[in-house]
Amino acid sequence: MARRNSRKQTTFVHPQPVAGPTTQQAFLAQQQNQDLLRFITCGSVDDGKSTLIGRLLWESQQIFDDPMAALETESKKYGTQGDEIDFALLVDGQSAEREQGITIDVAYRFFSSPRRKFIVADTPGHEQYSCNMVTGASTAEVAVLLVDAKKGLLTQTRRHAYLAYLMGIQHVVLAVNKMDLLDFDAAIFNRIREAFEKFANPLGFVTISAIPLSALNGDNITHRSARTPWYSGPPLMAYLETIVVSQAKNSAPVFPVQCANRPDSDFRGFSGTVAQGRLQVGDDLRVTASGQSARVIEIVTLDGSPSEALAGTPVTLRLDKEIDISRGDVLSLATSPLESTDQFEATLVWMSDEFGHTGRSYQIKLATQWATASITTLKHRIDVNTLAHEAIKHLQLNDICVCNIATTKPLVFDNYKNSKILGGFILVDRHSHATVAAGMIHHSLRRSQNVHRQALSITRTERETLNGHRGKVIWFTGLSGSGKSTIANALELQLHSQGRRTYILDGDNVRQGLNKDLGFTDADRIENIRRIAEVAKLMMDAGLIVMTSFISPFRQERETARQLIGTENFVEVYVNTPLDVCEQRDPKGLYKKARNGQIPNMTGINSPYEAPENPDFVFREHVSVQEMVNELLLLIR
Ligand code: ADX
Repeated sequence: MARRNSRKQTTFVHPQPVAGPTTQQAFLAQQQNQDLLRFITCGSVDDGKSTLIGRLLWESQQIFDDPMAALETESKKYGTQGDEIDFALLVDGQSAEREQGITIDVAYRFFSSPRRKFIVADTPGHEQYSCNMVTGASTAEVAVLLVDAKKGLLTQTRRHAYLAYLMGIQHVVLAVNKMDLLDFDAAIFNRIREAFEKFANPLGFVTISAIPLSALNGDNITHRSARTPWYSGPPLMAYLETIVVSQAKNSAPVFPVQCANRPDSDFRGFSGTVAQGRLQVGDDLRVTASGQSARVIEIVTLDGSPSEALAGTPVTLRLDKEIDISRGDVLSLATSPLESTDQFEATLVWMSDEFGHTGRSYQIKLATQWATASITTLKHRIDVNTLAHEAIKHLQLNDICVCNIATTKPLVFDNYKNSKILGGFILVDRHSHATVAAGMIHHSLRRSQNVHRQALSITRTERETLNGHRGKVIWFTGLSGSGKSTIANALELQLHSQGRRTYILDGDNVRQGLNKDLGFTDADRIENIRRIAEVAKLMMDAGLIVMTSFISPFRQERETARQLIGTENFVEVYVNTPLDVCEQRDPKGLYKKARNGQIPNMTGINSPYEAPENPDFVFREHVSVQEMVNELLLLIR
């Protein structure tokens, strides 16, 4: 999106919003000075969530004539509510899209009453998607938790309440729906309310409320229902109109840079969205990573050049002097510097069907910063029914756990309680690029501040010069019995006879020493390969040609090894011997044992092997080892 700034006569590329849908940004831009409440609805379609949202939109007069006529026709056509209007049809279009496989994590809807404007984040109701609520909850001030009075309080509602607490929401309201089906029985409502209060009280919400209602019939939505004379609180709309949410602290401005913007030689700006606080022309800003600072001389937005910009506004900044700033840099007031860390404790909400493991590497995104990260320790999982801490070996869909995370480079951060922007992050699968987890930082680990890299006097190049050749890693992968060790041995003999300095790291050997503590679960294999990649890198740094002979069954860990060691130093060799041939050879009798049920996780039998997609070299069957070794020698030369 390019635009000409008439006053300055300079062209610039306006930033894309860093987060959230464009429509929301536009709505927000218009609402800066008006009372606005953001809330999230949690619950499933069966609880009547779509009907409730449809009813709120309808009763706040947000549905105009044409859609209204269409709604009446559609309601009659489907006949889901007899001759009555089915309000759920107003919002269920999106569910259909979801069923077709179009991912809609959160749908934002905008409506208003005479007293307030509202943005409601509607998240998919299925329990399997409940973690998606994290996205919607990150900006919400109130959570409306929908309960089907007939079913009572379920695990899902507790999970939603716990997630609301984790995301820093301070006000929860339990919307106890379908009271019409229970004759508006006060005792049932009170039982549900009390059970919820007992659960939610320890979480420390500022307010916890409960409202008996019928979304279908409109009881206690906008008007107090005559059928609940025993209920003295407000109807839902009045609650939403009057709930007092604390205004964001007058925090110092923070500006994560999305991109440097230099459309021509006259204009140089930095685009992004103000993450918190109020940014003003004249502010002295500091780049956290480099410590350099400069003064803001102009704030450019789609609507001109205001003297200040509030949190949530996409802007381009011009500074008074040229300093090094690029995507991912975080700017703060020079007088309020930010901290960086590469190890921290966090709560993680696991959102993927794939298990999460310690040692596996993921991409981390924190504000506009990206790095590689891994979970170093899984401390405990939280049982959302009892809030008890449980031991945990790996992460599964919907797990909420406390863990330590390490990143490959320091990230500017704050704890989540202080800053949702600098304390919240996501983990992304490096292969599929899917978001696998959302996290909230508690604090930096002190060890990250106390360990510093020591500069060594002799460099890798000097060691390589002495050896007369480059250091390298030849990474063999393939099933047990495929011939990895035999080939690595033959290769080493050749290299050794040519006067090269070499070493072989072999699974069966290393597992008797350094990796004695590891077995053959997925998690142990991941850790096995992580350590080997680190050791191989050190040996390469010492100037050696290292051959590693490990099944290394997972693509992700081999890819991580390649990244760590450097693509230019790494040769992945796939020993592509089929399973039936390996099984026939069975040099250690392991396949036989596995077939007899004595080994529970034998690779190829009952534990997966992910063949390389783009190996640098493939060992083919029926070609002699010597021929292959000669080809490999040519490749690595
Ligand atoms: S890896 O999967 O973690 O890379 P690694 O190469 O270190 O495995 O070790 C594999 C060797 O351990 C095999 O060659 C075999 O001799 C032995 N082994 C013992 N149990 C298993 C098992 N369940 N699966 C595969 N190999 C096993």
